[in-house]
Amino acid sequence: MRRSHSRAVPWLIAAAALSGFLAIAGGYVKARAASPTGSPTATAANSTTACARCHAEAKTEPSTPMGRALELPGSNPTVTAHPRLAFQKAGYSYLVETKDGKTTYSVTDGKTTMAIPVLWSLGAGNQTWVLEREGKLYESLVSYYLAIDGLDITTGDELIKPHTLEEAMGRPIEDREKKACFGCHSTNSVTGGQVNLEHLHPGVLCARCHEGTEAHLADTLRGKDGPTPPALSKLSSEDMSNFCGQCHRSWETVVRGPWRGEVNVRFQPYRLANSRCFDGADPRISCVACHNPHQPLEQDSGFYDGKCLACHAPASQPAQQAATPTVSQSTPPIANGAKTCPVAKENCVGCHMPRVNMLGGHLTFTDHQIRIVKPGTPYPN
Ligand code: HEC
Ligand code: HEC
Ligand code: HEC
Ligand code: HEC
Ligand code: HEC
Ligand code: HEC
Ligand code: HEC
Repeated sequence: MRRSHSRAVPWLIAAAALSGFLAIAGGYVKARAASPTGSPTATAANSTTACARCHAEAKTEPSTPMGRALELPGSNPTVTAHPRLAFQKAGYSYLVETKDGKTTYSVTDGKTTMAIPVLWSLGAGNQTWVLEREGKLYESLVSYYLAIDGLDITTGDELIKPHTLEEAMGRPIEDREKKACFGCHSTNSVTGGQVNLEHLHPGVLCARCHEGTEAHLADTLRGKDGPTPPALSKLSSEDMSNFCGQCHRSWETVVRGPWRGEVNVRFQPYRLANSRCFDGADPRISCVACHNPHQPLEQDSGFYDGKCLACHAPASQPAQQAATPTVSQSTPPIANGAKTCPVAKENCVGCHMPRVNMLGGHLTFTDHQIRIVKPGTPYPN
């Protein structure tokens, strides 16, 4: 049977269910204290090559956008393909230049120029640079956008009116934001609650999501039978939404946050929880029913028809018990009950999960609040 919408369940209860996976602090998530010292074994555990010997996941995950959510100098295809990016705004001129794998971000007011080497590039497609100057970190005021194949003001910084060259260069990042920013975009950068950028592994890799991979690797390599990392496939849809929501933002984080209107379309766990389709106990609506976090995002809309029909199949075509067989074993049988579409039999997401443009079309997201979209009606919050 359909359980009540569990979005009202406080985040802390969900966090308790996930204890061992996550540690929450003030709405931000600290990375697990996987390796307090950043020892050589920690480095090996994060090196996905070692995992690839036994797990096919390791052959694909590092090259997904999540696996490349942060890039270091020398391995950044975006700037390599665009060795000279220029932009002007409010009397300041920007230049992002890449030569021999080294990128320099510079800004000038015509008299003085500030040039800073780029150490951390965030975003696999669209890209923002985190800059270091005199021991302080800044988010670059301009970013690269795929949709315009060029630079524009960084998402969220549109209202900043720079008065000095430093303000035109970037927005200062305080300690708490630094921890969150690197914690969401990389692996091993936050250990024991402290940011440790020397030991950072670029991108969201195995150890960022799976607990105990370090000991597991050491055991398997020694042929020892140790504990295997806890299986994430056992998480309920509710817990999975919160798990992915550490970075994609959970329902709880969004209702407590300042985001109202179309800006919250990018928070899929929040939008999905607001859909009538969502049931925290039904594996057919889990994030992983539609997405494999180890593979690139499926962009063929036909792929998702089967996911919808798992619940919305006509009576003659019984709904599947669960999209993920591993989950069904531990889950009680679920009644079908969901209605069928009077309009079409395929391309469900094309009509019921509309795309929403942000920032004048620089960014596009898919609305996970699955619903009947009536033309002319406002965006449901
Ligand atoms: C020498 C082979 C080997 C290597 C190397 C290895 N693993 Fe494993 N892994 C296993 C075996 C065997 C299991 C148990 C599988 C089972 O119970 O079905 C396992 C289980 C797992 C599981 C739990 C899967 C589940 O759902 O139960 C995860 C996650 C995992 N490994 C991740 C990793 C990561 C990350 C690395 C690299 C740091 C790694 N493994 C390296 C052999 C290996
Ligand atoms: C540690 C933070 C983190 C966690 C946990 C996380 N993600 Fe992500 N995810 C990201 C970041 C950062 C990006 C953006 C990558 C980019 O484009 O730079 C992303 C991107 C994605 C994308 C888009 C890929 C594309 O092609 O644009 C999908 C789909 C996705 N994540 C699904 C998931 C799912 C499902 C889960 C839970 C199983 C999950 N993520 C958990 C950080 C995370
Ligand atoms: C709570 C986790 C979280 C934090 C903190 C965070 N990001 Fe992200 N970021 C994501 C996720 C998840 C995505 C994937 C897009 C999406 O679904 O919103 C993303 C996408 C991006 C993108 C791709 C363009 C876009 O807007 O989608 C850039 C660039 C980016 N982040 C830069 C940064 C920088 C720079 C910081 C810190 C100053 C930062 N992010 C902080 C999780 C986070
Ligand atoms: C963004 C988070 C995330 C990252 C990064 C990630 N995984 Fe996973 N992994 C998951 C989730 C969630 C599941 C459960 C999937 C399911 O239930 O369909 C999973 C399942 C697995 C399994 C078990 C298969 C199963 O069905 O239980 C293995 C093995 C595994 N991952 C290995 C890896 C390896 C190796 C890496 C690094 C190359 C990696 N994962 C990176 C989230 C992640
Ligand atoms: C019923 C299927 C379904 C479920 C469940 C689902 N998604 Fe999606 N998701 C989609 C579709 C369809 C797209 C758009 C694919 C494309 O680009 O063609 C998408 C796209 C995304 C993207 C890329 C950015 C965007 O918004 O377009 C991210 C990130 C993402 N999903 C994360 C999640 C997370 C996290 C969850 C769980 C809270 C989740 N999804 C649950 C179907 C689903
Ligand atoms: C876990 C089962 C499940 C999955 C998977 C699922 N739905 Fe639903 N959906 C429901 C239930 C239950 C309702 C509410 C009762 C009804 O309308 O049948 C619902 C309602 C709807 C509605 C009516 C919403 C309203 O506001 O009246 C639409 C449209 C819809 N779903 C489309 C989809 C599409 C498209 C997909 C795939 C992207 C999908 N559903 C995936 C269970 C599901
Ligand atoms: C061409 C656009 C379009 C496509 C494609 C489409 N739908 Fe619909 N769907 C609609 C519209 C419009 C309605 C509302 C019909 C009405 O109220 O008369 C609707 C209604 C629904 C409902 C609510 C039915 C009810 O009785 O309340 C569900 C559930 C649904 N669709 C699921 C799906 C699924 C699953 C698919 C894919 C197999 C799908 N839709 C494909 C446009 C579409």
